Amino acid sequence: MPVQIRKAAVIGSGVMGAQIAALLANTGIQTLLFDLKPQELTAKEEKQGLTLKSHAVKNRVVLEAIEKLKKLKPAPLGTKEQAKLLEACNLTDDLRRLGEVDWIIEAVVEKMPVKKELFAKIEKVKKPHCIVSSNTSGLSIEGMVEECSDEFKAKFLGTHFFNPPRYLKLVEFIPNTQTSDETLQFMRAFTEQRLGKTVVIAKDSPNFIANRIGTYGLLLTVQEMEKSGLSVSDVDALTGKLIGRPKSATFRTLDVVGLDTFMHVAKTVYDHTEGEEQALFDPPNFMKRLVENGAIGQKVGKGFYQKNKKDGKSIILAVNPETLEYEETTKYQSELTSQTKQMKSLRKRIAFAVSQNTDDSKFLWNLISNVLVYASQKKDEIADDIYSIDVAMKTGFGWEAGPFELWDMIGFEQTVTKMKESGLEVPTWIDKMKGNNVSQFYRDGQYYDNHSEGYVDIPKKDSYYNLALLRKEKKIFGNDGASLLDIGDDVVLMEMHSPNQSIGLDVLDMIRRSVEEAEKSYRGLVISHQGKNFCVGANLMMILLEAQSDNYEDIEDIIHIFQQSMAKIRYSSKPVVVGAFGMTLGGGVEMSLPAASIHADFETYMGLVETGVGLIPGGGGNKELYLRNLKNVATDVNFDLQQVANKTFETIAMATVSTSALEAKKLNYLGDQDAIIFDKEEIIERSKQTVLTLEKNHYLPPTRDPIPVVGESGYATMLLGAKSLHWAGRISDHDLKIAEKLAFVIAGGRVPKGTFVDEQYILDIEREAFLSLVGEPKTQQRMQHMLMTKRPLRN
Ligand code: NAI
Repeated sequence: MPVQIRKAAVIGSGVMGAQIAALLANTGIQTLLFDLKPQELTAKEEKQGLTLKSHAVKNRVVLEAIEKLKKLKPAPLGTKEQAKLLEACNLTDDLRRLGEVDWIIEAVVEKMPVKKELFAKIEKVKKPHCIVSSNTSGLSIEGMVEECSDEFKAKFLGTHFFNPPRYLKLVEFIPNTQTSDETLQFMRAFTEQRLGKTVVIAKDSPNFIANRIGTYGLLLTVQEMEKSGLSVSDVDALTGKLIGRPKSATFRTLDVVGLDTFMHVAKTVYDHTEGEEQALFDPPNFMKRLVENGAIGQKVGKGFYQKNKKDGKSIILAVNPETLEYEETTKYQSELTSQTKQMKSLRKRIAFAVSQNTDDSKFLWNLISNVLVYASQKKDEIADDIYSIDVAMKTGFGWEAGPFELWDMIGFEQTVTKMKESGLEVPTWIDKMKGNNVSQFYRDGQYYDNHSEGYVDIPKKDSYYNLALLRKEKKIFGNDGASLLDIGDDVVLMEMHSPNQSIGLDVLDMIRRSVEEAEKSYRGLVISHQGKNFCVGANLMMILLEAQSDNYEDIEDIIHIFQQSMAKIRYSSKPVVVGAFGMTLGGGVEMSLPAASIHADFETYMGLVETGVGLIPGGGGNKELYLRNLKNVATDVNFDLQQVANKTFETIAMATVSTSALEAKKLNYLGDQDAIIFDKEEIIERSKQTVLTLEKNHYLPPTRDPIPVVGESGYATMLLGAKSLHWAGRISDHDLKIAEKLAFVIAGGRVPKGTFVDEQYILDIEREAFLSLVGEPKTQQRMQHMLMTKRPLRN
């Protein structure tokens, strides 16, 4: 086995290959990206005097792919600079260079002979320990390497990523019959911990797990639509969030995937099945005709949907399957959609949606019951257990719940009875479950295993914390906003659980008490949780209500408490480590910056976004970001204080949010003392380990040093930029007002340039500025708009 994967190669720089290479580059792995060597010069190359031997020509395919990566949305690269880790190679001249790498991923066209030929070539040049894998969507893994040596097969497996590979968590691992356990374990640990993915072991069957079930579900929906009289947009209204599928539902998903790609994937199953199943994997004629017409989805701007203009406004048209004409859509509304809209939990929604006596409910019952039956019929062919199928559908297709979880939600027994009444063939293992009086697939951390006919524990990683259990057994204290939990080794975790993890007085109170408790009786404190986003900011509703009731004294108190709580984190005598992930905005950033260390998931979107709601940071965020920017240039003897102030001002004024933890580093939200974590599930454990290391190394909080500021002249410089934007009409009067307040705070008020001020002074002028803005009607409008629409208002 390689000790570590230091260098990798990806072969095929198309849609998937290039993005997988970007994923590797994001984690810092140097990657050789290969594709075919062009046989002819383009007219442009000829004009430039290039020859077939020029680097730019030989590696044209890959070089273009790398450029495309920098523009693609959603961005595959954490920052554009990561592309430097990608090296363009071609399969004719550089094949030997495959001998430099520890992992080779094949992502060339989905054609068996091409893949087989490539593996024969790879075998001759790869290092003995190098692992080789294929990203095939569904071709036989065994067949692909049947002519390779046993040694090669032992280090070979399918690693099936999902598009877009940076954002979709699932990687299906498909071992061949000779893949060694060592290879599987090593790759699993690497893929989970370093690439931050969820690995599911799939069997070597056509299209593996997620594509087998997912493609079935999508094709079934298209065919049921044809029978139902529902339109394309009606079906999307019914098959998205309502039933726990992504918002893009059926047809928008197909447009994003590309009809051509989708038909190709469906054909793999078609080629390997027969009878009724095969018939289903033969896409309806109208889909074939769309592809013939080139309407293959979003990449060409036309598929099931097409954007158009009407009266100067952009409108969306949907295809009529009978005429293939694009028609205006109408919003689908029925008793079922209006009733389910009120239901927050999927369990309630789904149980209701399939049990009504209306046509749309029957349509949904048909879809869902068939998918559940299909998953249960195919289970043993595609996976080891039901849990793997559920995880694959959630992490690869974005379903809120997998088929067996859905089945439990609707009710196991009544579903089986109704399936039989509908003429569906339920497999014998399900009947046996009924016979054994087992009436659910899941119970308390376990799933039903049809082989042993009993329940088996859901696998848990060593680094996993069961917070629900800790809350019951190891809670030290807590309130509505957060709890302090003992997570072992004398470390405590402050876990936020307020709505959307927003910061209200309850959370602030918990910060203060948690730090004091850690200082008194523990080795340190971790602040994190296991929700979707770390923290979307302060509780805006609380501030708006106070402002609308003219309770400015109360707001001042709240801001004061906020600032003091953040200072508690900064000056805690025991290390405080924040574990951040997802949206970490406003107050969420202010809470992170004073920590001894931030452990941020790669997908952390950090930003002081207060200007979007007409405010500036009020919890010390201005000073903290300024200090971080200052620290970053401290070793440069020629550093310019004004530039430090400008950078801080621009980042906050523009409400810049990082698109990754790497970008947060560029913005100095993250620094050298912080860490980027790739496996979100490891954040709490890794944060705890850092607390322990810091404490062992005799942790001391930062000293309270006077801060050099740019003062009055620096204030004018900062404002100049904002004023020119205002003159050019690019920012509003209110934007300018906010910019003035912000510049004043960052400049350190009315003092001469280079004055050293105490941090309390900056906090005081920050509080004053915040208070004056909160009283502005336009700021209140912005806050209200954000609360109601979740979008910023430009006024
Ligand atoms: P693509 O068509 O975008 O890229 C394929 C690349 O292979 C091209 O850059 C092409 O120049 C290169 N190529 C063609 N013939 C070759 C040959 N004889 N030798 C070496 N390279 C050659 O295809 P895409 O979509 O990136 O798919 C690549 C693999 O990933 C396929 O096996 C596909 O089934 C699989 N896959 C695709 C997904 C998708 O959503 N597109 C999702 C998951 C897996």
